[in-house]
Amino acid sequence: MAQTFETVGVVGLGTMGAGIAEVFARSGRRVIGVEADDAALERGRGHLERSTGKAVAKGKLTEDAQREILGRVTLTTSREDLADADLVIEAIPEIMEFKRGLFADLDRICKPSAVLATNTSSLSVTAIAAGTSRPGQVIGMHFFNPAPVMKLVEVVHTVVTDDGLADDVAALARSLGKTPITAGDRAGFVVNRLLLGYLNHACALLESGVAGRDDIDAAMKLGVGLPMGPFTLLDLIGLDTSYEVCEVLFRETRDRRHAPAPVLRELVTAGLLGRKTGRGFYSYGEAAPAAPKARRAASVSTVGIVGGGPDAAALATALERAGFKPVVAERSDLTAVGEADVVLALSDRPVVELAVRLPHPERLAGLHLVGDGVAEVASTVLTSPETAAAVHDLVKILDRTPVMCGDRAEFVVNALLYAYLNDAVRMLESGYASAGDIDTGMRLGCGYPAGPLEMLDAIGLEAVRDGLRALYAEYREPAFAPVPLLDQLVTAGVRSIREYAG
Ligand code: 3HC
Repeated sequence: MAQTFETVGVVGLGTMGAGIAEVFARSGRRVIGVEADDAALERGRGHLERSTGKAVAKGKLTEDAQREILGRVTLTTSREDLADADLVIEAIPEIMEFKRGLFADLDRICKPSAVLATNTSSLSVTAIAAGTSRPGQVIGMHFFNPAPVMKLVEVVHTVVTDDGLADDVAALARSLGKTPITAGDRAGFVVNRLLLGYLNHACALLESGVAGRDDIDAAMKLGVGLPMGPFTLLDLIGLDTSYEVCEVLFRETRDRRHAPAPVLRELVTAGLLGRKTGRGFYSYGEAAPAAPKARRAASVSTVGIVGGGPDAAALATALERAGFKPVVAERSDLTAVGEADVVLALSDRPVVELAVRLPHPERLAGLHLVGDGVAEVASTVLTSPETAAAVHDLVKILDRTPVMCGDRAEFVVNALLYAYLNDAVRMLESGYASAGDIDTGMRLGCGYPAGPLEMLDAIGLEAVRDGLRALYAEYREPAFAPVPLLDQLVTAGVRSIREYAG
């Protein structure tokens, strides 16, 4: 018969542990929350009270229900109090030595039938299990931050996990209102492997000066529809955790894209770990600095547009309506835009080769329209600051958010997005996870509007393959080359990778 896990221990009541304790208590289970000392225990109590308190304030929970939930949680500093637990979940810092010490204690203290679970983001569940006398009853149960909100739980089994246990834990996750996906014990499992690769790539773009923090965040939030930009999310996850996950990914994959970006190391060393310390990529609790004074596009009258098609026509109409004088030229003959005050080269590829063909190359910037709300503005090495500022203003006048970036292959959005989609295809190709689990993982673990394979189908396999080829040609990064499966699907004329994967 499936195990029901009536009494659940949670060890470590930081952000994740307290969230996990809340989830179990809300499901009606008795929870024993354990912390190392009284101060940490009080912080854990604070997390629980604040989180449920917010729900009361919003009218999502009655005060009685809050009292009942908190009443189900016993807080203690003694691990011995876990003797009767049916399941214990560990959510302590990601240090293998600490985890193994804890699991040795749990193994000694907990009843023989108890299941021991780890919420580790990155460490090997197998290595944790191997340190106990019951490796068959050790499993990964990986929640996502904020645990009360994110609907995914990754259930991670090892080669020695008892038959049926992963199914029981998946059923438990469902009883908590979560959707489980089951995965084997590989670094980063499904979600962190894809997510941290992308987040670290965003750090690399930042460090290489292709775009700034706010531009990259805006690009991915508003251009792709992700709930948060990469730097906001890194701050939420914690830069120490992010660094550790990248480190473990790198150790397993030897893919240099997973080597933690130096900016992560620097921030972590400085103790700037993100929201939990009040500062990471952003500062929290301080008034936002005043936005820099808008530079005016007022001195601009004639706007050159390079490129044909509906985008150029729509842009010309919108500019005309806003009081500018648009002039359109095809790429093959730029004569018409030669004397324009600024020249917008509609392109999703670098535009410097167009600039050098103009009498005033400093007046040209690349413009890549992303969805309905964003426009990437690419400055070449020749673009003047005045041109960049004027195009920035023009984009705003057109009711789009400008994302200022360098003139590099795939600019920001497609560079980050396509590399991530390629990684998802690589994961599918390796047989580690099904297309459904990969999509569910990213949708429910990170709140993405669609999973990567769904996004790939929507954008078009060929467009992504071609974008990856351009990225590879520019950066010569082996992992940017289209995964063979993607290349072959395009060659074979297959339009949907999800249909292909069944
Ligand atoms: N605890 C409890 N509830 C919270 C919360 C928290 N810390 N933060 C937000 N919420 C609730 C709010 O109360 C609100 O609830 P309601 O809809 O019932 O009113 C709901 O979540 C939405 O919150 P907000 O309106 O304040 O804010 P947003 O709409 O911006 O959503 C978000 C916040 C849910 C965090 C959203 O931005 C999001 O989904 N971000 C992506 C988070 C993500 O990717 N997490 C995974 C990180 S990876 C990970 O954790 C794995 C690890 O191993 C590294």
